[in-house]
Amino acid sequence: MSRITVKDFREMKGRRKIAMLTAYDASTARLLDSVGADSLLVGDSLGMVVLGYDSTVPVTMEQMLHHAGAVSRGTARALVIGDMPFGSYQVSPEQAVANGIRFLKEAGCAAVKLEGGEEVCAAVRALVRAGVPVMGHIGLTPQTASQLGGFKVQGKDMAAARKLLADAKALAAAGVFGIVLEAVPASLAAIITRAVAVPTIGIGAGPHCDGQVIVTNDMLGLFDKFVPSFVKQYVNLAPEMKKAAQAYISEVAAGAFPGPEHSFASTEDFSALLDEPPPACP
Ligand code: KIV
Repeated sequence: MSRITVKDFREMKGRRKIAMLTAYDASTARLLDSVGADSLLVGDSLGMVVLGYDSTVPVTMEQMLHHAGAVSRGTARALVIGDMPFGSYQVSPEQAVANGIRFLKEAGCAAVKLEGGEEVCAAVRALVRAGVPVMGHIGLTPQTASQLGGFKVQGKDMAAARKLLADAKALAAAGVFGIVLEAVPASLAAIITRAVAVPTIGIGAGPHCDGQVIVTNDMLGLFDKFVPSFVKQYVNLAPEMKKAAQAYISEVAAGAFPGPEHSFASTEDFSALLDEPPPACP
């Protein structure tokens, strides 16, 4: 089983659909990798679904590297992409390169993702020139969601759609190997997908993209603060987890867990230890 490279990923366009999921820890990464995920994104959604923040804005480089390293160690085949957190690439192309390199060197990622269109193209060019493969992300960009009026569908009118198409073309020209399209009308995602030579990866962007990405905790029913309308919940694990935890709590209270099958036995009779005098204090 060989690792999917950035080149393999790019060449999937027009051949087959790309399936990408988010992951934040090694155990989950191992499971998703073993069933054929093409790419695992260590998204800064980490901040909301794992770290308990209300947005992705507070997420730091150190937090991203910590979790991205775990995902890389749990992955044998999928392309691992680290999400550059807010404030790690906007200051200057030099800052973007320094932080992008950390994802490859310290966390074992194959590539990074960053949010934005034409305004981040200088950073994208610098990263690609430095040998850091970059995935773009346009449409609803959670790091700047408040500027966009909240978590809302983007590109709904002609002017906004024209701007998103221009952003996609600019990112492709700057050297990205793929572009996430988040929360845009399906018909616009189809146009953007036709207009760029690199794969488009949709999330709330309809069926015409070259691939799809989903937040794993959402599709497993593990994040119940809110569920975006474009999420398909393939299983609802939260009630199962609660049921299992309740059973454990009751069994501990009743002394039913652990039973003999979950305990270690010894042929030694330790009861004599009770009669031994305490050791003298030194
Ligand atoms: O942070 C994230 O998980 C993402 C995906 C939703 C694309 O950016």
